[in-house]
Formats: sequence, C-alpha cells, structure tokens
Amino acid sequence: MKVFSTAAEVNEHYSNCGLMNPGFVPTMGALHEGHLSLAETAVRECRMVAVSIFVNPTQFNDPEDLRKYPRTLDADLQMLSPLLREDDLVFTPTVGEMYPEPDNRVFDFGNLDKVMEGIHRQGHFNGVAQVVSRLFDIIKPSRAFFGQKDYQQLTIIRELARRYYPGTEIVSCPIIRESDGLAMSSRNRRLLPSHRERAGEIFRTLVAAAAMIKDYDPVEIKEFVIDRINMIPDYRIEYFEIVEDGTLAPVSSRKEMSPDRLYYACIALFAGGVRLIDNIEVRLR
Ligand code: PAF
Repeated sequence: MKVFSTAAEVNEHYSNCGLMNPGFVPTMGALHEGHLSLAETAVRECRMVAVSIFVNPTQFNDPEDLRKYPRTLDADLQMLSPLLREDDLVFTPTVGEMYPEPDNRVFDFGNLDKVMEGIHRQGHFNGVAQVVSRLFDIIKPSRAFFGQKDYQQLTIIRELARRYYPGTEIVSCPIIRESDGLAMSSRNRRLLPSHRERAGEIFRTLVAAAAMIKDYDPVEIKEFVIDRINMIPDYRIEYFEIVEDGTLAPVSSRKEMSPDRLYYACIALFAGGVRLIDNIEVRLR
C-alpha cells in the first residue's frame, strides 16, 4: 500500500500504475473493525482502493469535540497494511492541502439536513459535504463505501453524489457491532468503563423499539425509548426519531407510515461526555 498526503502524489500514482477511479473509503481515522470491514468490502469489489484519513475541522460544530477526536495515524496505517494491496493507497492530507483557501460553499439539502443531527449539530453536514466533495474531486472514485451507522450522513452523501458526482456510486455497508450490540465507533474508546458496561442497552432498546411498531405509534415508542435510556445512570438522550428512508421525514403515528416503505429509528445520546448515535430499520410488516 502507498501513503500519500497530496493530491499531486495521488494523480502521479494513478499515472504510474495505469489505474484510476478507485473504490474509496473516507474516514477520520481512529480505525476500528467497522472501518476495516468497509475497506475489506472495497478491496473485494474494486481493482484499486483508496482510504482517506483526515479529521475534518469544518464538520465539527464543537471545538472541544474536534480537539478530543482521537488521532492514531500510526496504528491506523498498521491496521490497513495487511488489507490493502500494492497499488491501493491511503490519503492522509493536511488541513492546508484540503483547504488551501477557506471553503465557503453552502449546500442546501432541503429537509435532509434540517432534522436529527442537523438540529443538534448546526453546520455539521455542510462540513461533511465540503470535505466529501473535496475528497471526491481528488480521489475521483468510481464507488464510495459508507457505513450505515451514520444513516443521515449516508442519505445526504447520496444526494450530494446524485447532484454533483453522478459517476460515483454510493455503497452502504451494514453497521458492525460489538458482542453486546454497541455500534462500533471511534468515540467508543472514550467511554468510561461504567458507561461502556451499560452501552449494550442502546441497541437492545432500538431492537425493542423496532418490534413495538406492530402495536404502538412512533410517538409512544419515542416516550418508551427516552425513559429507558435516561434511566441508565449518567446517560442522556438527545433525540429519538422514526424517519422515512430517503426523505428523512419524521413520523409520529402509524397512519403516516406505509407498509411498502422502509423507516429507520435513529437515536443520539450522551453517555457521560461521549455522544453516540445508532439506528435500526423499522418496517410496519
Ligand atoms: O463518517 C466519517 O467518518 C466522516 O464524516 C467522513 C465521511 C469521513 C467525512 O469527514
């Protein structure tokens, strides 16, 4: 595997190896099994793969969150090296390489960035769109692989690609979970042991919520989820919504839902000072 930190090096590599338009796995590093499974899928399905590692400052609305974001480049490269092949590459740009000038672009995704994360992390998705479009411009991927855990992000990136990168297929990959159901995330390593011990409760609550749709309206399920999460010592729910797949329109009663459509129950919460998100598919039948 090759490691490059500039767009010029990536282009030169494409010329040297006679390949371009790789399968692409964008990450912010602090890699875990979830990222590795994205990279493995990309390697299985694409002749060449690029993985980027870049902690993007424009998607953090909280400077403290940006400061605390784990940065583990050496360990990340060690994890990738057995998976990636000779011509595969890891792109590790600096902030200056990514943003030689301030990126003032403002994206409007309609409702997609006005709900859930969009309410609680103002400007977050604009920053994600900025960095993903910049990365797509540099890497020029034929396919890009994203985890389903960041379900709202995935939906917004699909829209970004539909509008501006029709040649890039967005591939959604399943959530990888710990044995107790906790969705893998770079933030999990910041959980205190007492918070980590109870974290399996998040997925168990989502599973229960998804099953409840047979008998209860989303508004009632929401109350159940809020109570159950807030009962865990030092846990605080930020939001729980059941939204329609694709439009992200929140639903509050089963009358608004169609048996032919797919929905997602999405949650964000704080376990102590660590913010976690997760989601599960919900179907009326
Ligand atoms: O999901 C992430 O890790 C980031 O939001 C992404 C897509 C790499 C953009 O910085």
